[in-house]
Amino acid sequence: MSNIGVFIQVFNPIHNGHMLLMNKLKDKLGLDKILLVLSNISRNKYEQLPLIEDRRNMCRLATKNCERFEIYDSEKNFKDSGQIFNILQKIKNKFYFDGLHLIIEYGLMIFLNLCYACGNIFNFASIILIVFSQEEYLSAKKKIKKFGKNVVIVKFEMSNISSEYARIRFAQGLSCFGYLNSDVEKYVLKNGVYCQKGALFRECFDASRNRLSVKRFTHCQMVAKAAKGLAKIYHEDEKKAEIAGILHDIVKEKDKKSLLRIIQDEGKVLSPVEKSSPKIWHAIAGAIYCKKWLGIESQEILNAILYHTTARENMTKFEKIIYIADCISDDRKYGEVDFERKLAKSDLDMALLFHLKLSIKQLCEKNCSIHPATIDCYNQLCHNFKKKCKEQGDKLE
Ligand SMILES: [Fe+2]
Ligand SMILES: [Fe+2]
Repeated sequence: MSNIGVFIQVFNPIHNGHMLLMNKLKDKLGLDKILLVLSNISRNKYEQLPLIEDRRNMCRLATKNCERFEIYDSEKNFKDSGQIFNILQKIKNKFYFDGLHLIIEYGLMIFLNLCYACGNIFNFASIILIVFSQEEYLSAKKKIKKFGKNVVIVKFEMSNISSEYARIRFAQGLSCFGYLNSDVEKYVLKNGVYCQKGALFRECFDASRNRLSVKRFTHCQMVAKAAKGLAKIYHEDEKKAEIAGILHDIVKEKDKKSLLRIIQDEGKVLSPVEKSSPKIWHAIAGAIYCKKWLGIESQEILNAILYHTTARENMTKFEKIIYIADCISDDRKYGEVDFERKLAKSDLDMALLFHLKLSIKQLCEKNCSIHPATIDCYNQLCHNFKKKCKEQGDKLE
């Protein structure tokens, strides 16, 4: 009797993290073989999947030298979770005398529940549930109580290699060397699987939507819209502005502990003012997160995210656009917003100066510390403003 793992995934695309996970599972649980079953149901319900043929071909390339990994060719790729039950039954018929172990990631637990609703899956398979964090482990433990000993939880370290990361790299025209099997990378480039027009914004849009509440995501959409409009007026890259806008608050709903972990893992030391201002942590952590976990390479975008709360001296026009877009997006309702919207269209620096004054005043009223970069930016804008007035006055004289 052999032990066979059945790994259900979208594999969009298959990457080294999958391979590492499967190898570890094989060793840890003594599996003789792992069948890869391609699904059309993703943990991200908005994910747009390329053709199953492309994903299957990439899986074949990635596993071609691994005897113990096999692609299971179901006649149809399944879109409905109930079909997993039928697929498992078919696999069981093929490997009648072997032990079957269905491998599911925590994010796809819905498979387990739907599968169980179709019949007693445990008659022919046990479940291996993969979790990537202590929170997932604790939550999974509660959820599987009703299944008794038929479900085994296996914890793995979360790797920063993900299909999303690979897709975002490809959409930027960057290599995924070290993250994907080189033949898979060649296949992607030859067939243009993740390089369609607008792919980068669509991926960033989904990344933001999957991590944020509806309210926060709506805000990001509106900031993206405002940023695009300002970029058009001030002749900056509209697509980049839209991307920075949609990503600028991507980690805003993470708790303080997680934000500090992202910052510290990167070796960044917070200054005393930064330590005492948790509201700016999401900007620092956001820039790190976008680079490390989403594979965003544009320093312009990363800096715009980094400085969207504090501003800084010598801000680029692009950074000013994202800062102001965040202040004047359609969801903002403060008293001076309409004035600031008009100002932003005619004079970006004046709009920035105007908002910095408001922001500094509010911080003072609340006895909050002010980041030195904010003061530097304010001083520079004041200086430039006075200089400009003087020049204009000289001209009039
Ligand atoms: Fe923010
Ligand atoms: Fe924001």
